[in-house]
Amino acid sequence: MGSCCSSEKVDEGVVVTPGNTTWRMFTYKELHTATNGFSDDNKLGEGGFGSVYWGKTSDGLQIAVKKLKAMTSKAEMEFAVEVEVLGRVRHKNLLGLRGYCVGTDQRLIVYDYMPNLSLLSHLHGHFAGDVQLDWKKRMKIAIGSAEGILYLHHEVTPHIIHRDIKASNVLLDSDFEPLVADFGFAKLIPEGVSHMTTRVKGTLGYLAPEYAMWGKVSESCDVYSFGILLLELLTGRKPIEKLPGGVKRTITEWVEPLIAKERFKELVDPKRRGNFDHNQLKQAIYVAALCVQSEPEKRPNMKQVVGMLKGYDTRGNLMQTRMDSVKYKEELLALDQRSDDDDDDDDDDGDGLEESCGVFGAMEVQKMQDPYNRYGNRKSSKHI
Ligand SMILES: Nc1ncnc2c1ncn2[C@@H]1O[C@H](COP(=O)(O)OP(=O)(O)OP(=O)(O)O)[C@@H](O)[C@H]1O
Ligand SMILES: [Mg+2]
Repeated sequence: MGSCCSSEKVDEGVVVTPGNTTWRMFTYKELHTATNGFSDDNKLGEGGFGSVYWGKTSDGLQIAVKKLKAMTSKAEMEFAVEVEVLGRVRHKNLLGLRGYCVGTDQRLIVYDYMPNLSLLSHLHGHFAGDVQLDWKKRMKIAIGSAEGILYLHHEVTPHIIHRDIKASNVLLDSDFEPLVADFGFAKLIPEGVSHMTTRVKGTLGYLAPEYAMWGKVSESCDVYSFGILLLELLTGRKPIEKLPGGVKRTITEWVEPLIAKERFKELVDPKRRGNFDHNQLKQAIYVAALCVQSEPEKRPNMKQVVGMLKGYDTRGNLMQTRMDSVKYKEELLALDQRSDDDDDDDDDDGDGLEESCGVFGAMEVQKMQDPYNRYGNRKSSKHI
C-alpha cells in the first residue's frame, strides 16, 4: 500500500469552505493507523464503492473510513471536485464529510462514525433483536431522512439526486437522529461510462420503475425509494422477500391489499407489539402509498412529503389513494442478486420468509427498451 495522499503539501491541513464547514485531508498513514491497518476486525461493511472501516484518530475521534475501489488516475480530479461539493453540504440529516485522502491509486473518504450504524441493522441486521426502535424513533427517522432528502433536492445548489436511498444509507447517531449517507457519488463514475453500466447506484426493491427499466432519473426516483424505505420502517418488512416457493414478492405487493382493506394494524412491524400511534401510522402509510405510485408525475415532492409526515398537510382525500403496487417484470427480478450488505445478516423474520433484497445489476437493464419510448433521452438521467 503505498504512496497516498498529497500528504507532502496538505498534511493535516484544515480547509475551510465558504459555507463555514470544516473538513481536512488525512494522510494514508493516519487512516491506516486509525483503522488498525484496515483490518477485517474494523470492517463495518462493504458496499458498491468499497469497504468501510471503523477507526479512531490520534485525537480520539471515531471515524468511518470508506476505502474506494481503485479507479483510474483520470478520475482523481473528479473525485476531488466531488468531495469538495460534498464538503459544502451541511444539514443535520445528511452525513457530511469529515475529510478525505487522495493518492495515485487510493481514494478514501472519512465520515463521522455513527454508533447506531444503519437503519438496516436495526430492521434486519445486528440490532434486529432489540426493541430499541420504538414508534417515536421510527417517526423521527422517517421525518429526519425526508428532511435530508428535501435539502438535497430543493435547497443545495446544484441540486443532488441521491439515487440510492435505502436502509443501509440511513445512518443513526447516538440519539437515533437519522443521517442520509452516500449522496453524490454517482459523479465518481469515470467519464464516458454511463452510470447505468455499473452496479454503482440502486438496489432492486427501492428502484423506481422508470429508473429500473429505462434509466430515467429525476427527484421523483428518490421519492419512490423513500416511499419504500418508509414502508420498510413501518412494517419491518424487506423491500423484496423471497417466499418459500422461491417466488419474490415486493413490499408494495404485500402492503397493497392491506391498505385497500384498511387493515392498518396488521401492517405494523410486529416488534411494536401494538405500541404505535394509529393516526400517525395511517398518515405515514398514505404518504408512502403516494410516493410509490408507478407514474413519477403523480408522486409528491419531498417538501410535500415532509409536510404530510409532520401533519401540516393532511390531504383530505388521502383515504381514496390506492396504491398501484409495482410488480417488477420477471426479467428484472431474475437479475436480483443476493445482497452483500454486511449488516443484513439474514435473520429469519419469523414467518418463514427469506430475505432477498439484492444488489441490482443495472448493467443488464441498459439492454432493455422502453416499449413506449417515453423516456428515450437517457441524457436526462444525469444528476446534479
Ligand atoms: N459513518 C458510518 N458509521 C457507521 N456505519 C457506517 C458508516 N458509513 C457506512 N457504514 C456502514 O458500512 C456498511 C457499508 O456501507 P456502504 O455505504 O459502503 O455500503 P451500502 O450502504 O450497503 O451500499 P451503497 O454502496 O449503495 O451505499 C453499511 O452497513 C453502512 O451502514
Ligand atoms: Mg452506503
